[in-house]
Amino acid sequence: MSSPAALTLLDLIQSHRITSAIYVAAKLGIADMLLDGAKPLDDIAASTGADRQALARLLAALSTIGLCKRTAQDRYTLTETGAALASTARPSCKAWAIFEAEMLQRSWSGMLETIMTGKTAAQLRGFNSSFDMMAGAPDQVRMFNAAMADLTGLVTADLLEAYDFGRIAHLMDVGGGSGELIGAVATRYPQVRGTVFDLVRCGEAANAHLAGLGIADRVAFQAGDFFVSVPAVADAIILKSVIHDWDDQRSDVILRNCRLALPANGSLLLVERIMPEAPMPCDADRSHAFSDLNMLRGPGGRERTEAQYRGLLMQAGFRTTSITPIGRFAVIEAVPV
Ligand SMILES: C[S@@+](CC[C@H](N)C(=O)[O-])C[C@H]1O[C@@H](n2cnc3c(N)ncnc32)[C@H](O)[C@@H]1O
Repeated sequence: MSSPAALTLLDLIQSHRITSAIYVAAKLGIADMLLDGAKPLDDIAASTGADRQALARLLAALSTIGLCKRTAQDRYTLTETGAALASTARPSCKAWAIFEAEMLQRSWSGMLETIMTGKTAAQLRGFNSSFDMMAGAPDQVRMFNAAMADLTGLVTADLLEAYDFGRIAHLMDVGGGSGELIGAVATRYPQVRGTVFDLVRCGEAANAHLAGLGIADRVAFQAGDFFVSVPAVADAIILKSVIHDWDDQRSDVILRNCRLALPANGSLLLVERIMPEAPMPCDADRSHAFSDLNMLRGPGGRERTEAQYRGLLMQAGFRTTSITPIGRFAVIEAVPV
């Protein structure tokens, strides 16, 4: 083997170091601090309370991965990529950086047991699912909901560009978490009414988010369990990053409950990644394939190909009418048959 090939491998092996360095920057709020311009190291050290020399070494490492730049002697400024680590950035990746390091990185350290058994981390600990396992840990639920809102914030602009929500009277976001997606749709379309349907534990964050956007008069949170039933209140249902959480059998139950809740002329929208039939070594396919592993270790679902989504939808009583790419995701539109 040539040295360059081995060095490529070594960089891949050590990539968790990048996750950890970004995590520390996120926890210390370094991007939030630098958002309005370059600051001297002394100011950053004073604001964060970090050790000055150690912080300088962290900032040097972050500059090698393109998050910040040293502009003059001991002054640092953010790059465009680094700015997305600020909590006020839109989109922001700060909550995801914290979730990735504090929850996913720890869980992924047990990936070997999942590959050997085919079981999720939750199943190996005697829980039904990762959502059940999180139930007893409100801090983790908050961290997870905030991270999901970040990820959704990365696709809402593309989604609003690609899909016309104007003909929908009432949109329900099933498994809508803290309401990030429906908040973006309802803000863009002032005539649309909405419902965020999710577990009771998401109510507080969703209500606060909807109130903050000033749309609480027409978008409400409703608590429930999508394996039991979905309320029949909307002419369109959207599910983002929900079906990929579950195996085919459980996905079928959710989709059938959505089918029962929709009028005959209603529509169903899935916002999901589309797994290529043969993933190649490129950024997009890597992101899909590693998300697939994340589903394997985490909730127990999978990333699916276009054919697999069409098949799932048909089995649950839907006909797929369009599949539109939006960044690394796609909007899959289906209607009841
Ligand atoms: C991966 S998150 C997606 C959140 C949101 N759609 C997004 O993309 O930002 C899955 C969501 O499904 C919700 N969920 C899990 N089990 C549920 C159940 N049995 N009934 C209703 N919602 C559930 C979770 O609380 C969580 O908000």
